[in-house]
Amino acid sequence: MAVETLPLTENQIDQYHRDGFILASGLIPEAIARTGEAAMWEVMGMDANDPGTWDNFSDEAIASTFQAGFKPRSKLFQFFGNQHPDLLACYTPEMMAAMAQLTCESVDLFHPPDGTLIQNIFPSDEKWAWRGAHFDGGVKAKMHKTLPGPFIINSIIYLNDIEKHGGGTVAWPGSHKPIRALAESDPKKYEYMWRLSQDLHTVDIGDPVELEPKCGDILFFAHFCVHAATNNVRDTPRLALRSRW
Ligand SMILES: [Fe+2]
Repeated sequence: MAVETLPLTENQIDQYHRDGFILASGLIPEAIARTGEAAMWEVMGMDANDPGTWDNFSDEAIASTFQAGFKPRSKLFQFFGNQHPDLLACYTPEMMAAMAQLTCESVDLFHPPDGTLIQNIFPSDEKWAWRGAHFDGGVKAKMHKTLPGPFIINSIIYLNDIEKHGGGTVAWPGSHKPIRALAESDPKKYEYMWRLSQDLHTVDIGDPVELEPKCGDILFFAHFCVHAATNNVRDTPRLALRSRW
């Protein structure tokens, strides 16, 4: 389905290129996002209104995490390749058009995925902190080449309203530029993403900002954008879908 008007403004596109990420609202109709939120609870086999059910991580979800080669972390519910139609419905034509705007690519390049990665962060008793600042693609086993990179844009769709310290992603504005400069300073040394990741700590990327997304907001971030998951010290899980193109 074609989108008749471009969904993002020039200011939003400028912000994406300057900061390496943007949190965009209005690309998913409210009713679709809220239906997606309800589908999350159905997939997890938990009751949103009964925290007593929130430890019931399904065998299917745990198996899915292991199959993908990740160890399930406490308080992180992951489900790879989920195909619930109400979750996939969140990948709207407006979202596809927005990614075309941000990357200056044809909209024909972007299609809703066949399956999505659920990454929900449950409330924790730990202090608020971010975990492992990183840019995506640096897992050694994957052997991703650094340039031009394994993907052209990343997205996280948030499916509930997230308060401060409620599991919102943190991101370092502008970090994609010095990381790219480091990669380009020695293409042989940094041929692979995992090797570049090892030297992330040598780059001054300043301070992060914590996002506080609403249900249906989408974070788009660029290759080399440094970001991190955070502990959720609020009372409700953070619900999100992640995809790369
Ligand atoms: Fe990441």
